[in-house]
Amino acid sequence: MNQQQLKQAAAQAALDYIQPCLTSDAIIGVGTGSTADCFIDLLCQEAHRFAGAVASSERTAQRLQAGGVRVLDLNDVDYMPVYVDGADEINPALQMIKGGGGALTREKIVASVAQKFVCIVDASKQVSVLGNFPLPVEVLPMAVRNIKRAFATMGGQSRVREGFVTDNGNLILDVSGLSIEDPLALEQTINQWPGVVTNGIFAIHAAAVALVASEAGVQQIKPIDH
Ligand code: A5P
Repeated sequence: MNQQQLKQAAAQAALDYIQPCLTSDAIIGVGTGSTADCFIDLLCQEAHRFAGAVASSERTAQRLQAGGVRVLDLNDVDYMPVYVDGADEINPALQMIKGGGGALTREKIVASVAQKFVCIVDASKQVSVLGNFPLPVEVLPMAVRNIKRAFATMGGQSRVREGFVTDNGNLILDVSGLSIEDPLALEQTINQWPGVVTNGIFAIHAAAVALVASEAGVQQIKPIDH
């Protein structure tokens, strides 16, 4: 199987997993990225079975609407049983790096509202320690230089993502060279720096379950204590 087929297998497993959630009043949280796109295409085929979705990006909202799913504003939603999204890296505690597609802030907001984060990945995304994938950080433009300096003191090299503006009108710094031994602590530290909107560590809102596709099939993984 190629990587696209693995993404599709993970997406199909997610649709199977959320079957009990697909009720007439249910609102589903939907992520962003190429794996999430596979899930969206499957979810759209079931559009008649649930009330609607909250999208984690403009791109996802458009894809859902084109497929016949009603897209709601998060402020109109009180309860969301599940959020389904991909990841750039995931560790055994199901903490993740996200934001390769630049939608990390809205992803984190929607994930924080949902009862359960279901992460869909192919096995290439599994790591023992996060940080090989450059950490995306959404920043307000006027703070870029100062935040770059702050990362440098930690040994991180950061670059502004060229030609990219987030759905919220901000910039993305991609930071390499970080050793993320304690994802929870680093997520909290970076988020306190003035001008940081969100960083791409998802440890406070780690996944509740990961559906990991490989040649051997799709494995359902629960978090190991960290
Ligand atoms: C979007 O901002 C990201 O968080 C994606 O969810 C993540 O990068 C995974 O994307 P792929 O499924 O395209 O690898």
